Amino acid sequence: MQPVQAPFPATRFRRTRASAPMRALVREGSLAPSDFIWPVFVRDGDNLSEDIASMPGVARLSVDRVVAAAREAASLGIPAICLFPYTDPAKKTKDCAEAWNPDNLSNRATRAIREAGIDIAVMTDVALDPYNIDGQDGFVRDADGYVVNDETVEALVRQALSQAAAGADIIGPSDMMDGRIGAIRAALEAEGHRNVALLSYAAKYASAFYGPFRDAVGASGALKGDKTTYQMDPANGDEALRLVARDLSEGADMVMVKPGMAYLDICRRVKDAFGAPTFAYQVSGEYAMLAGAAANGWLDGDRVMLESLTAFKRAGCDGVLTYFAPAAARLLNG
Ligand code: PBG
Repeated sequence: MQPVQAPFPATRFRRTRASAPMRALVREGSLAPSDFIWPVFVRDGDNLSEDIASMPGVARLSVDRVVAAAREAASLGIPAICLFPYTDPAKKTKDCAEAWNPDNLSNRATRAIREAGIDIAVMTDVALDPYNIDGQDGFVRDADGYVVNDETVEALVRQALSQAAAGADIIGPSDMMDGRIGAIRAALEAEGHRNVALLSYAAKYASAFYGPFRDAVGASGALKGDKTTYQMDPANGDEALRLVARDLSEGADMVMVKPGMAYLDICRRVKDAFGAPTFAYQVSGEYAMLAGAAANGWLDGDRVMLESLTAFKRAGCDGVLTYFAPAAARLLNG
């Protein structure tokens, strides 16, 4: 498209900005509660809400409180909630068996939301880190600390099947092992879970913005080394497109770019290249930056929240995983 623009004063861009109705009329996109997936942290106990120091305004909730949160989210018009368990350190093992325990925290929370009859999609996380004594997303080889791929994929399949059996609508593999989307898809089909959707963390970067999340799920202390042999190099963009192509071909229904705010170029490229349902994760560190600055009075919290979320829509995202989901939905609902 050639920009053809008559010179000033025929063109005054300020005409369409002159009043709120004019601005509304020419606004290119919109942000709504239906754009959000709300990540919540689940912990053991009853009627408990435990603050997370590095994420002001976010807490770990006991299962009954998660059900209440899901009910609130549904009433705000948020279509999906995503569960992340905080696992008792005593349940972390080398073989990560708690990951596919039908009665683990994540599966109990999923069933509780289902049994309460709440009209909200439940998304669960596939990765071994909450259950791994080594804090990594996959099995760690003793000899050299390498995170092994194919053995991990077998465990991820078991984990995904236990989540589908508990009633998950969306399974989100966040582990970045090769081949896990195809393996999980095949297993879901074989077990009759035909309509369980896969939202692949396709382009997930080895990012320092995950720090507060690792505190929230209790993985910070356990983690040995980093995740650079399986998560992406922040310098790479073309590779993201190859990963998304691969995951779509293996049976992903939706794809994700993560983190979000520093990777909006990747969101745009993915959306333009594939036209698939595209999501971004505004991760814990991005949340902490905005919420922390707002708590100190350095930024207007409500405005930076909505501005940052609008940017995801402008970049081509169909939706955003964001810890701001309920606060933003409340504001948007007026
Ligand atoms: C790990 C996982 C991480 C996040 C979601 N799943 C952290 C990591 O890869 O170390 C990060 C989410 C956030 O920072 O909000 N499977």
